[in-house]
Amino acid sequence: MDYTKVLSTKLLSIKPSGIRRFFDLANELEGVVSLGVGEPDFDTPWHIRAAAIYSIESGQTTYTENQGLLELRKEVCKYQARHFKLNYSPKDVIITVGGSEAIDIALRALVNDGDEVIIPTPSYVAYEPGVILAGGVVVPLALTSENEFKITAESLLACISDKTKAILLNYPNNPTGGVMNHEDYSQLVDIIKEHNIMVLSDEIYGDLLYEGTHASLAHFEEIKDQVLIINGFSKGYSMTGWRLGYLLGNEALIEEINKIHQYVIMCAPIMSQYAAIEGLKHGDQNVEMMRLEYFARRNYIVKAFNDLNIKTHTPKGAFYIFPDIRSTGLSSEDFCEQLLSDQKVACVPGTAFGETAEGFIRVSYAYSIDEISIAMARIKQFLINIGYNT
Ligand SMILES: Cc1ncc(COP(=O)(O)O)c(C=O)c1O
Repeated sequence: MDYTKVLSTKLLSIKPSGIRRFFDLANELEGVVSLGVGEPDFDTPWHIRAAAIYSIESGQTTYTENQGLLELRKEVCKYQARHFKLNYSPKDVIITVGGSEAIDIALRALVNDGDEVIIPTPSYVAYEPGVILAGGVVVPLALTSENEFKITAESLLACISDKTKAILLNYPNNPTGGVMNHEDYSQLVDIIKEHNIMVLSDEIYGDLLYEGTHASLAHFEEIKDQVLIINGFSKGYSMTGWRLGYLLGNEALIEEINKIHQYVIMCAPIMSQYAAIEGLKHGDQNVEMMRLEYFARRNYIVKAFNDLNIKTHTPKGAFYIFPDIRSTGLSSEDFCEQLLSDQKVACVPGTAFGETAEGFIRVSYAYSIDEISIAMARIKQFLINIGYNT
């Protein structure tokens, strides 16, 4: 059967993830050292795993309330207040299947066919397909390394039209490691208010910050009811496989969005919810320990790239660096493909995160210092082999 005749045009217009395509190539080779994946390399802290085991042993294996266990939603609110000084109540929370579901249901709840959603790019790979599947049109807002990949008032204004529905932003950022501080956000507030733009703020790396305090547009009371926060346990708590995240926003909006979650998901897995309660109650030290380790790795890898004469700005958050490889004369794809075939090191071409990221590569430091140092020695050899002046 010719499935292109039966599949939806929206689906057919979506390309498979550039990250996946690259890892399929890497998987065909033996002895590859990867700095490619954005997944913490720590085991989920033991007390969190134990809470999930206990939930299974004690027969807590049922559905939960659609929005998630009340106890978990209370803990999410305490955590947001404790870590980020943001005040929410349990009715403002939906516990989702990862930040991924939170992104999807927020977009589907807001976007009508033809609505425009501004996406600062380079951006996390799931945003563009999410907007398209919701019937929206992506309006890319090109971020630049010169401006530390921040959104400015001018760049935002240039993207706004009478069809603008929302902006989907992510700081600390995947793939650049860029961060917006309170002052940076304050430049955007009046514009967002005046144009009635909804803000989907993906703050999943909010705990992995190496300078200053985490900022959010939700800190600005005048637009707080326009902001939906996406967060989750995958990154800060090293809980990727537990598939748990959440969406936070005004109660009236959350109640509407919950209809999608209710019919499509029903509820997030109960064992993961019990694990997350334990993490939020007693896991601050674990998160801090992992943050300090990423911080040390960040310092190591940024220095290693700069020592090789590859310009790399120092990211202030998340666990990625975004080296500028334009001086090598290679495109992002060629650099990554040649590095993989020559030295068996896997990084991701910047273009996997949007065309504006040509000339950059994404390097994850969610790997041990040992792995990073092996990869860096190989990258040095690669640069020598292509005649680069290291
Ligand atoms: C920016 C960003 N948002 C959301 C996600 C999805 O995370 P989750 O595992 O919570 O679905 C990721 C995962 O890489 C991410 O980098």
